[in-house]
Amino acid sequence: MIHLRDVKKSYSRGEQSVLACAVDRLDIGTGEQVALIGRSGTGKTTVLHILAGILRPDCGEIEVAGKRLDKMGESARDRHRGRNIGMVYQTFNLLQPFTALENVLLGALFGRGAGGDAKERASSLLDKVGLGDRMHHRPGELSVGQVQRVAICRALINDPQLILMDEPLGNQDKTTGGQVLDMMLQIASDTNKTVIMVTHDPESAKRMQRTVDLASLRSGVAEEAAK
Ligand SMILES: Nc1ncnc2c1ncn2[C@@H]1O[C@H](COP(=O)(O)OP(=O)(O)O)[C@@H](O)[C@H]1O
Ligand SMILES: [Mg+2]
Repeated sequence: MIHLRDVKKSYSRGEQSVLACAVDRLDIGTGEQVALIGRSGTGKTTVLHILAGILRPDCGEIEVAGKRLDKMGESARDRHRGRNIGMVYQTFNLLQPFTALENVLLGALFGRGAGGDAKERASSLLDKVGLGDRMHHRPGELSVGQVQRVAICRALINDPQLILMDEPLGNQDKTTGGQVLDMMLQIASDTNKTVIMVTHDPESAKRMQRTVDLASLRSGVAEEAAK
């Protein structure tokens, strides 16, 4: 499902160049559920954005769901993302003027999920994450934990092959977080979806099949840090 080779992304700030992420090699199979861990600032969000095709790295090969993202232009990557990838952003990125239900439905506009039953599927997802009675609330009228759960529903609405989540449960209490993650992972394993979740929570990481520490994928970092 995923193959990364010699991928690097840096940002330049004036004369200084900041290495945001470096991955020599990462392979993830179809249906795998992977926790991505690493200290703050080690490039976890950057890697997820590269996998989603939102960011283009400076170099390297990126294969996701059979497509070489490094050989595709921005609009082709956007289409690929809409069809194949569900993304839960670290900052959620819900649209404020729209209700929870509308935000989930907006996700369907960009993917293959815009069929006639989209509304039923959106309601049923919101119900499953315990927001059945909050569907017509706007993000500003929801708690951060509830907004997070709406973002998870939006990521699932298109039935994507690959689900990328950037600390999706950081604002949940333990019980709710555990329940939402279990529901996600159940849907994923029933339908053989691949899941990559950035997390700081060892309990959440344990629920995944495999844990990848971003630091272990980077070479040349010690030299960079020493400079
Ligand atoms: N747009 C940007 N411009 C400059 N530096 C950035 C930008 N985005 C991220 N970085 C830097 O890249 C590094 C990795 O960031 P990020 O992927 O967000 O880390 P993580 O998600 O692991 O906390 C950090 O050192 C961060 O400061
Ligand atoms: Mg991050």
